[in-house]
Amino acid sequence: MSDDIRAFVFDAYGTLLDVNAAVKRNMSSFGDTGEAVAAMWRSRQLEYSWTRMLMGRYADFWTLTEEALSFALRTFKLDQDKSLKERLLKSYFVLDAHPDAREALTRLKDSEVRISVLSNGTNPMVRAALEAGGLLELIDDVLTVDELKIYKPDPRVYQYACDTLNVKPNEVVFVSSNSWDLAGASSFGFRVARINRSGAAREYEFARLHSEHRSLVELATLV
Ligand code: LAC
Repeated sequence: MSDDIRAFVFDAYGTLLDVNAAVKRNMSSFGDTGEAVAAMWRSRQLEYSWTRMLMGRYADFWTLTEEALSFALRTFKLDQDKSLKERLLKSYFVLDAHPDAREALTRLKDSEVRISVLSNGTNPMVRAALEAGGLLELIDDVLTVDELKIYKPDPRVYQYACDTLNVKPNEVVFVSSNSWDLAGASSFGFRVARINRSGAAREYEFARLHSEHRSLVELATLV
């Protein structure tokens, strides 16, 4: 690993945590619509974070998660079953980690570089899910936007990580599976590593990617 890297900063949802896990755990309530509900839930959750920010109507990520789920369940006519929404939200709060996350963080920890998380999620939801996945003990800092009330990819969020960790942008490797997040982090000046588990196409081509990996373990093995 290059000597001037001082911190690995990880995105949480989609990167360390499996955003589809809440639906997967409740699959018997969905039949064949499960995947579509999960995809709509995630896409609206993200959309609401950016649209609300532009409107000057910030609400925390847990609220957006709930609003997005209500929309997805209404769309698929699954909103009659009140307990389904509660079960899904309960599962989302303690979302599963991706299976490669623990091994990767354990390897990185051995290299003694600082390991942080920078997420749009609220501090309680991110910590609860990281803890449930056995990852919290491997992470030095859990940074969230609760006090900033702004969402990634606004550059002020990446700056907040630099200020808090006392590092310069080019001393950070920012790791994410979300292309919009990688583009924001790279534009800000971080080195960025894309975790592309599904072999998804490249987008945001204007933004430089420093490396791309099929898994977190592959990233951790290479550094
Ligand atoms: C995160 C999301 C939204 O910041 O992926 O964790």
